[in-house]
Amino acid sequence: MTQVLKVDQIEIAAALLRRGECVAFPTETVYGLGADALSAPAVAKIFAAKGRPATKPLIIHCYSPSQLPALADHWPKEAERLMEAFWPGPLTLIFKKKPHIPAIVTGGGDTAAFRFPSHPVARRLLKAAAIPVAAPSANISGKPSPTTAAHVLEDLQGKIGAIVDGGPSGGGLESTLLDCSALPFRLLRLGAITLEQLEGLAPIVWAVPPPAKGQMNAKVILFTGAEAAAAISQKAAADSAAGLKVAVLGFGNPCPGATFLDLGSESDIRAAAARLYSHLRRADRESFDVVLIQGLPEKGLGRTIMSRLRTAADTIIET
Ligand code: TXA
Ligand code: MG
Repeated sequence: MTQVLKVDQIEIAAALLRRGECVAFPTETVYGLGADALSAPAVAKIFAAKGRPATKPLIIHCYSPSQLPALADHWPKEAERLMEAFWPGPLTLIFKKKPHIPAIVTGGGDTAAFRFPSHPVARRLLKAAAIPVAAPSANISGKPSPTTAAHVLEDLQGKIGAIVDGGPSGGGLESTLLDCSALPFRLLRLGAITLEQLEGLAPIVWAVPPPAKGQMNAKVILFTGAEAAAAISQKAAADSAAGLKVAVLGFGNPCPGATFLDLGSESDIRAAAARLYSHLRRADRESFDVVLIQGLPEKGLGRTIMSRLRTAADTIIET
């Protein structure tokens, strides 16, 4: 049984965390699945619930930077500027870890990732639990990150102790991940904090791995460039005429014969980010044969969204 808790039941959620149970909670990015970061058996429950590969490390969530000295060995002064600029908020920083952090949290490595979320519910929960909380996104491994409590329950109902339903999570894209264990800092994942925001604050090199191949049920084609919308309507018409079940994920341009997953207006990238994972989940759930996706300019949050779309895509067509 998974208890669904309201935001005024934070104390119950906090007690479950302290008792070594897994609890899902909203953050300003996506929902996380938390457990006591200093308890290996508690953290093991996260891996079991998600079906997560044992070598993939977790982010430790804190309610205050004052928890850091007990967890991280040291950090360069350049990282402090980033903390001042973006904490609390969606930037995760990786530092050398203190020895008492269990190996299961860090994939056996000597560094740990730290994040100080800004979402009021996450902060209240972390404060009430008064322990560092390891939390990956609260989805089954390989599925899009959850942005609502319903998404979490779709994946993890019955597999976790509880969820705090705080309504839709914030921005809809995960935190930006920066390895600060050595200089220059290495950007490992582009997320809610953009390259443009980071530039000039610290020496940073791009180390984002090339996207893994698509894990969606449908065949996913991403169209980029100026003619993307036109190419998508042509392809949608041809595929639906051939009897395929087609979805189009794009901006304000429904295509006859296809289900339209609307990202909103191209001028409102934040709104598109907030809807993205919900649409990708729906595309999977409704078992389309083909999902045609309209790309967007690679700047600001658009660059983050494109990195997720490239991961989802089996094929990329440049128009
Ligand atoms: O916005 C977010 O970051 C959400 C919310 C819940 O905080 N969390 C999240 O966690 O996206 P997760 O586990 O789904 O993604 C964390 C990423 C993984 O790719 C993991 O490999 C990487 O961070 N990571 C964690 N610790 C690391 C470390 N010590 N070194 C390198 N990569 C690390
Ligand atoms: Mg994840």
